Amino acid sequence: MAKFPAEPAIGIVGIGSDAPEGLLTNADLESLVDTTDEWIVERTGIKTRRIADAGTTTSTLASRAGQRALKDAGISPEEVDLIIVGTATPDMLFPSTGCLVQRDLGAVNAAAFDLAAACSGFIYGMNVAAGMIAHESCRVALVIGAETLSKITDFTDRQTCVLFGDGAGAAVLKRVEPGKGILASRIYSDGMLGEMLMMPGGGSLHPTTHETVDQRLHYIKMNGNNVFKSAVNSMADAVRGGLEDAGLTADDIDLFVPHQANIRIIEATAKRLGFPMERVFVNVDRYGNTSAASIPIALDEARAKGVLREGHVVAAVAFGAGFTWGSMIFRF
Ligand code: ACO
Repeated sequence: MAKFPAEPAIGIVGIGSDAPEGLLTNADLESLVDTTDEWIVERTGIKTRRIADAGTTTSTLASRAGQRALKDAGISPEEVDLIIVGTATPDMLFPSTGCLVQRDLGAVNAAAFDLAAACSGFIYGMNVAAGMIAHESCRVALVIGAETLSKITDFTDRQTCVLFGDGAGAAVLKRVEPGKGILASRIYSDGMLGEMLMMPGGGSLHPTTHETVDQRLHYIKMNGNNVFKSAVNSMADAVRGGLEDAGLTADDIDLFVPHQANIRIIEATAKRLGFPMERVFVNVDRYGNTSAASIPIALDEARAKGVLREGHVVAAVAFGAGFTWGSMIFRF
């Protein structure tokens, strides 16, 4: 576990998001695998997902979200000195999606890299970027969570294909007035449970061959029940830890923004923490699980809807493959 010190004050000064226009409904999935709208809604809460077309990549969505976040912050691309893209679906293994975003934005003064923490990529990225700002190795960071999970989803596997969607969200981080910004952040990993959720093909263990493709190793493999239990326990612990570090209780939180994986995971986590559902942001019904993109998309939507306002204290928490998980408590 790694913590983040609350001093100096570092906070979000701009947010933005993007999602492809293509819609995949539960009715569409009924025609692909043996499933029903009723099963999917009851077990996951998901009704539709946004799906990228062949020409749209993770960097396309990430760059659009990043551009909107910079515009929101009133910061030019040249002022950005760090770009971190949390993603499990980079455009390619190298160059990094971070570098492709740097190119697209014209962020000529930035260092850029990808961060591989799956669904926790945005919280991990924020934690790392804030640490770098605190240590004065950069001043303005653009942290992006972006995924095109549809491109690694096996649309013959009914257990996984109903869950995932595509999208991107971004936040601009810099020093802010004392008392605002990030109040606490914790990140954690447990590599012992890595086999519960993986895409085994395409790396140095199983370089892509006709055989690995025939074995469908280039798609997500998941033990859903195990992921479910670990997600609820770990996300609740991470928020408790963050609240403890910030000297706050659940009552002090105006908005809980959990990773949007599954409505049952969200409800079970909120219940454990004592957050009533009125204070929990949910959009998993319309996006499915967008992995690293889910929290920044949720923040952007919550603000657009007026549910997230300046001065609000937010608890965000994520969990994903690795396993990785982490929380961030901040004053918006
Ligand atoms: N449609 C219809 N039936 C299905 C489907 C489907 N899409 N998928 C599985 N089933 C069947 C199973 O085959 C099983 O049938 P059986 O009883 O005849 O064997 C039955 O439904 C129950 O299966 P379970 O796996 O026990 O169902 P569960 O209630 O656990 O729900 C789910 C499965 C939705 C995958 C759940 O385990 C889950 O949400 N896990 C977390 C997964 C997740 O969020 N992963 C994302 C990455 S990590 C993260 O973001 C947190």
